[in-house]
Amino acid sequence: MDEWGLEALLLAGRKALITGAGGKIGGAIAERFASEGCIVRLADIRAADVEAAAARLRQSGSDADAYVLDVTDEETVRRVFGELDGLDILVNNAGMSRGRSIQASTVEQWNEVMNANLLSVFLCTKYALPLLKHSTVPAIVNMSSINASRMNPGLPAYAAAKSGIIALTQQTALEGAAYRIRANCISPGLTIGAERQQELRAKPGFDIDLDCYPLGRLGYPEDVANAALFLASDLSSFVNGINLVVDGGMSLQAVSGLVRPELRRRWKTGVYRLEPEE
Ligand SMILES: NC(=O)c1ccc[n+]([C@@H]2O[C@H](COP(=O)([O-])OP(=O)(O)OC[C@H]3O[C@@H](n4cnc5c(N)ncnc54)[C@H](O)[C@@H]3O)[C@@H](O)[C@H]2O)c1
Repeated sequence: MDEWGLEALLLAGRKALITGAGGKIGGAIAERFASEGCIVRLADIRAADVEAAAARLRQSGSDADAYVLDVTDEETVRRVFGELDGLDILVNNAGMSRGRSIQASTVEQWNEVMNANLLSVFLCTKYALPLLKHSTVPAIVNMSSINASRMNPGLPAYAAAKSGIIALTQQTALEGAAYRIRANCISPGLTIGAERQQELRAKPGFDIDLDCYPLGRLGYPEDVANAALFLASDLSSFVNGINLVVDGGMSLQAVSGLVRPELRRRWKTGVYRLEPEE
């Protein structure tokens, strides 16, 4: 323990299950947690991807295992959590979206997106709670999205589900508090791996999107993984029920800044008022 009461490795010996860990952000979270001494259980519906991700972590010396899990299927969720040998951290990260307007969406399509993003958080939380109650350092981290509060037309179920995750996180935070289980969520902005961002920069028109991001880049999966580490570890021991926005300040901007490129340029060059530049 150091003078702040923290272990040298932030998650040494703790057991985490991360859903959607065959994907970009979930994979980065599993890797970041493992780098802090965490025992990681990676779960995903895509068997090959999740098994490959767990194998990569084992190769670098981590205690990692893969579970093939459909987070929308109650029986499978119940069975997988029943097989776990203890749990300290649950990361509800699995999710997906389908672009379709309200008018064009069927109930089946609505349910598919709602279930993958929101029912999944309810189910995994329900079956994780009995295990987390036995932990001395329990934490839940849910993955919402900036789309919970900033809309892109054509994502009705996704926006509703991600908004629901923020409310469900707050419910969990209050219900879990009796057992010292903290629950928080993260709302990433557009998050793409560094290599892919590099490729996209070369595409015509992409610089316009990028220009709307005050830090001049989109989020990396590692940015979200660092936020998840904060919320899962003792660094956030008195943080409960929050929605941590990880978007580089993108969603703070006034509409005037978004529609007027000359304003965005001024902000970026550090000339904040409408004075002539020197
Ligand atoms: N990448 C972004 O720009 C961004 C922005 C905001 C929020 N998010 C959220 O972050 C999370 C991770 O996104 P990502 O960018 O890594 O996407 P991704 O597609 O790379 O990873 C998502 C993973 O979830 C898994 N999954 C989907 N349905 C599942 C199910 N029913 N059961 C089990 N696993 C299932 C997928 O197989 C996939 O591996 C998602 O919840 C997403 O909504 C992403």
